[in-house]
Amino acid sequence: MTIDAPFAAMLPGISPGVYGVDDFRAISAIAHREAGIVLPEGKAMLVYSRLAPLVRTSGCATFAAYVLRIREDHAERQKAICALTTNHTFFYREAHHFDHFRDTVRPQLLRRLEQGGKVRLWSAGCSSGEETWSLAMTLLGPDRNAGLALARKDLRILASDIATHALTRAVAARYSADDLKPVPEPLRAAWTVRNGDTVEIAPELRALVRFRTLNLLGEWPMRTRFDVIFCRNVMIYFDNPTKETLVARFAGMLAGEGTLYIGHSERVTGPALDDLVPMGPTVYRRSARA
Ligand SMILES: C[S@@+](CC[C@H](N)C(=O)[O-])C[C@H]1O[C@@H](n2cnc3c(N)ncnc32)[C@H](O)[C@@H]1O
Repeated sequence: MTIDAPFAAMLPGISPGVYGVDDFRAISAIAHREAGIVLPEGKAMLVYSRLAPLVRTSGCATFAAYVLRIREDHAERQKAICALTTNHTFFYREAHHFDHFRDTVRPQLLRRLEQGGKVRLWSAGCSSGEETWSLAMTLLGPDRNAGLALARKDLRILASDIATHALTRAVAARYSADDLKPVPEPLRAAWTVRNGDTVEIAPELRALVRFRTLNLLGEWPMRTRFDVIFCRNVMIYFDNPTKETLVARFAGMLAGEGTLYIGHSERVTGPALDDLVPMGPTVYRRSARA
């Protein structure tokens, strides 16, 4: 195996016989093809550190052997993809989205629920659940009794991610008290249960959410359309064609004048702009003529 000098310099202490530029490129191509994740060469050390434990437990002596394994073995490939995802998230991240949702979208959704209609929300790329619970709390609001009445109506939240280890944490719905600090206190008081240093999401909130493993690049089995889609800080890992295809698919999944929230460094470009009207830099509403 030949190693570029600059690539080798990125990997101090790692023997080229164990991990080299060809291995990195093969893994990077698999991550892109399977999950849309772009891994430039500057991520060579990150790829090494995320996959080295899997290489070891799989019994492979080198990354080259592991590349052959994941080409053949679907389950091992999924494990490798999960390990390559970045799951950083926190409660009330980009709080202005929750303010916008509370002030602009929520009142319409509450009216619909009161009239016996249905409301569907989707947290796409939910990671370990902090975004989903922030959205669910904001929807039910600070008045627990009023929120419980809403929760009995036709209201569901889908939360999906490709990373099963992150979803396991989301389903557990248990966080440190510090993690919950960004959440406005009245919402915390209404929808969380404190147990020492741990906080659990209230069962009534948990009952609203279905967590599912879903690759956003693959088939979407959902039959319903969504009033609100949050897909934030997921597309930053994708290239432009993948982003444009994805936002066009989101536009097609929005109901009526549904709302799409994306991350602070993301923008909608491409064909989806025919169907989505910007409401602010990272908030889009499905146009009435879409
Ligand atoms: C940085 S987290 C963002 C979490 C949350 N949306 C937020 O803004 O805090 C990005 C998430 O996107 C997920 N992800 C990356 N590629 C994906 C794909 N192809 N399909 C589904 N989820 C993906 C990762 O597993 C990760 O949990």
